[in-house]
Amino acid sequence: MMFKIFLFLVLAPTLIHSLDTVFNDDVLGLIVFKAGLEDPEDKLISWNEDDENACKWVGVKCDSESNRVSELVLDGFSLSGHIDKGLLRLQFLQKLSLSRNNFSGTINPDLPHLGSLQVIDLSENSLSGKIPDEFFQQCGSLREVSFSGNNLSGSIPESLSFCVSLTKVNFSSNKLSGKLPSGFWNLRGLELLDLSDNFLEGEVPEGIQSLYTLRTIRLRRNWFSGNIPGDIGGCLALELVDFGENFFSGRLPESMQRLSSCSSLSLGGNSFIDEVPEWIGELRNLRFLDLSANNFSGWVPVSLGNLQLLEKLNLSMNEFTGSLPESMSYCTNLLALDVSYNLFRGSLPSWIFKRGVRSVSLSDSHPRGIPSIRAASGGLQVLNLSSNSFSGKLPSDIGALSSLQFLNMSKNDLFGSIPKSIGELKTAYIVDLSDNRLNGIIPSEIGGANSLRDLRLQKNLLTGKIPPQIEKCTELTSLILLNNNLSGPIPAAIANLTNLQNVDFSFNQLSGSLPKELTNLSRLLSFNVSHNHIAGELPVGGFFNTISPSSVSGNPSLCGSIVNRSCPNVHPKPIVLNPNSSNSGGGSSSPNYGHKKIILSISALIAIGAAAFIVIGVIAITVLNIHARSSMARAAAPLTFSGGEDPSGSPTTDPNYGKLVMFSGDADFVAGTQALLNKDCELGRGGFGVVYRTVLRDGRSVAIKKLTVSSLIKSQEEFEREVKKLGKIRHHNLVTLEGYYWTPSLQLLIYEYVPSGSLYRHLHDGPDRVSLTWRQRFGIILGMAKGLAHLHQTNIIHYNLKSTNVLINGSCEPKLGDFGLARLLPMLDRCILSSKIQSALGYMAPEFACQTVKITEKCDVYGFGVLLLEVVTGKRPVEYMEDDVVVLCDMVRGALEEGRVEECVDERLQGIFPSEEAIPVIKLGLICASQVPSNRPDMTEVVNILELIQCPSEGQEELLE
Ligand SMILES: *[C@@H]1O[C@H](CO)[C@@H](O)[C@H](O)[C@H]1NC(C)=O
Ligand SMILES: *[C@@H]1O[C@H](CO)[C@@H](O)[C@H](O)[C@H]1NC(C)=O
Ligand SMILES: *[C@@H]1O[C@H](CO)[C@@H](O)[C@H](O)[C@H]1NC(C)=O
Ligand SMILES: *[C@@H]1O[C@H](CO)[C@@H](O)[C@H](O)[C@H]1NC(C)=O
Repeated sequence: MMFKIFLFLVLAPTLIHSLDTVFNDDVLGLIVFKAGLEDPEDKLISWNEDDENACKWVGVKCDSESNRVSELVLDGFSLSGHIDKGLLRLQFLQKLSLSRNNFSGTINPDLPHLGSLQVIDLSENSLSGKIPDEFFQQCGSLREVSFSGNNLSGSIPESLSFCVSLTKVNFSSNKLSGKLPSGFWNLRGLELLDLSDNFLEGEVPEGIQSLYTLRTIRLRRNWFSGNIPGDIGGCLALELVDFGENFFSGRLPESMQRLSSCSSLSLGGNSFIDEVPEWIGELRNLRFLDLSANNFSGWVPVSLGNLQLLEKLNLSMNEFTGSLPESMSYCTNLLALDVSYNLFRGSLPSWIFKRGVRSVSLSDSHPRGIPSIRAASGGLQVLNLSSNSFSGKLPSDIGALSSLQFLNMSKNDLFGSIPKSIGELKTAYIVDLSDNRLNGIIPSEIGGANSLRDLRLQKNLLTGKIPPQIEKCTELTSLILLNNNLSGPIPAAIANLTNLQNVDFSFNQLSGSLPKELTNLSRLLSFNVSHNHIAGELPVGGFFNTISPSSVSGNPSLCGSIVNRSCPNVHPKPIVLNPNSSNSGGGSSSPNYGHKKIILSISALIAIGAAAFIVIGVIAITVLNIHARSSMARAAAPLTFSGGEDPSGSPTTDPNYGKLVMFSGDADFVAGTQALLNKDCELGRGGFGVVYRTVLRDGRSVAIKKLTVSSLIKSQEEFEREVKKLGKIRHHNLVTLEGYYWTPSLQLLIYEYVPSGSLYRHLHDGPDRVSLTWRQRFGIILGMAKGLAHLHQTNIIHYNLKSTNVLINGSCEPKLGDFGLARLLPMLDRCILSSKIQSALGYMAPEFACQTVKITEKCDVYGFGVLLLEVVTGKRPVEYMEDDVVVLCDMVRGALEEGRVEECVDERLQGIFPSEEAIPVIKLGLICASQVPSNRPDMTEVVNILELIQCPSEGQEELLE
């Protein structure tokens, strides 16, 4: 067999006839056909040349009597190559179907000469060239032919009209041109004619009525012109007529009213004129009627109401006037109605929103009066009422349109607010309410519409903020809010809408800075915030590296390379520093020990042979004190402006910028404060920085701590993480951290301002010193204990307890400040730590000096113990006498041992304090100040004990023995 095939291939085609008798023609023909093909999916692997016949091969069917091939069906086999002459050997072939492959080349004119071929389907291949005239010259028994979806050109051959046995002709989707052959209507048996999507032209001739059996005629998308043949009504079997998108003109021929079997009539996209005739109501089987994009005028015929099977009606883009007939309420099967772009004048009939209509398009059709939406319209999926003159409010129950997918009410005269029920449109993916006069806010309920892909609210009068709840609309790709009066910041939550592509917030009153997180939006194509009041630096990274300048223009306070405005070193500038504030003399306002006194204390302490930890601490203090001063001066240099000069007049070229974060409330700190942070506003100095008081625009006072250890500060990220953690802590007895401000060279912490000054002042310094009663002192001790206990519950160690860090409010309640700041240091270096809290000498737990002991909350308990004793005795933890140093703890402990502890209580209270409370409190203080950490109680225990002490009926003496 191989040899025979070899001979055939070498000698073909000249010797075919002489070798005829040697082979089974079918096997030979198919093998030759296969040999010329590419079969990338090996679909024809079963085609074996050694077989006696081809009847079992894939795609092959044989006549049961003759065992000769009668059908070859290779649809969708991904074959490519030419349709080879080998097939011509299949003398008994009746059906050849090679649809959906990749055959190329021209059509073989000899194919129909095969003895009994009835069906030939070459659709959806890559055939090109003309349809050969010879093809139809002897078409014998050919009944169905499809060349649809190829690349055939030229005209339809005249010979086609000789193939009178044809029932189906499908030449759609090619590049055929020219006119219809003159004898076309000779094909009396034609049932299906599809010539759509070609370049055919000229008139469609009369005489079509001889096609009694024609059911389907599709001439869509050609260049046919003139009238529809007047006798088309004779084709009584017609079910589908599609003449859409041609150049047909004139009136609809009257005979069409006889097409009572017709269920689909498409005449859209032509130039038909005049009224739609009343007889249209005779086409009782119509389900689909498309008269769109013609020049029809007049009223819509009342007889449309007779079309009870009608499902889709498209009358859009004509010149219909009047109103839609009430009779159409009988079209009970109507699903989709498009009457947009007409000249209606009447009001919309109520039936539109009744029953099961799914899609209503009334765009630019000029009806009057807004229809009321009813619960019954719950099945509505598409509602397009755009570009009309609807005036009124949006129906508050718009959410009742629970199946709505597409809502377009743009370009009307709607006013009032957007109903909250908009959030109930769970399936809507496009909502367009743009170009109206809507006011009020964008309701936060919008987050409920979580299928939204496209939200357009531009060109309205909307106010308020962009609701952060929009983050729940995770499918959003397009968010267009331009041209409103929206204010407030752009919510960072937008950054969670990862599908966003187009965002337009331009021409609003938005303020604040652009959230950095926006750089995460990886699919952005446009992001327009121009003409707002956006300030601060443009985010760097992602889309924002290439954002066009016009998208950010019109925001005078925005900086960054794109807007060609360098970001000032400190920006926004809440403060102007007094040039003298970091110079010498600063220490004079310190409530703590001056420089001189420290030096004195060194000699004094060494002289009395104090514990080793104090010595180490003091040496570290001296060294670091010098270091801190010099680094402070350096850091302050670029920030120093001479008093009164406008800082913005001399922007620095430093690329660093400031970042202001408020944990609650608005950041109107930026705009609000013009306060000069100079010595007049200075509240005090501590180990971590100088504290100033300033007033926000809203009249609220805040305390601002300028950290003076900038060279020791962690990276911005770590700094922010730690500060945010501290900002979360809220307790009645803790000073609230309200926000912070960061630049590489300057860090500010913004605290709640507590008006009455520090505990230190109340006890030792101020004019209030006499006023503290025992009750008040006890309250202060208990409050401090509660604050500290809360801090420890959130795993934060204060590290810096001392009476200057305890603030007293107007009701004489204590608030602990400055907590947790040691966490801002790059590491908990004890050296630095002990130097930063240098002034806390006497509060410092002994384990600080001991490198091998872990520092825990217990060091705070020690400090608390000392504080407690300070409050009770009114004495500083370490008092410097003429030639002596008195350590408070030791003094009190000694007094207790000698049984004269009551003498330790502040002399200002002598005679007016309850000793049944004072003595246990002092004992508690001493236990807290134990040298061994494990001997000290937890702060929650301390709180419990204090509450017991406060209640004199309990046996507090036993408790503390
Ligand atoms: C179709 O055939 C041509 C060559 O004739 C080839 O370049 C092309 O990739 C084929 N296409 C498919 C989809 O197989
Ligand atoms: C003509 O053939 C194309 C491609 O196979 C097909 O999509 C179309 O439905 C056919 N036309 C008719 C009227 O059946
Ligand atoms: C279709 O045929 C034209 C020539 O008639 C040729 O230029 C074009 O490349 C062909 N297109 C395809 C997709 O084969
Ligand atoms: C984004 O979503 C995540 C997870 O739901 C959430 O934790 C985060 O806070 C959101 N981000 C913003 C900026 O809202």
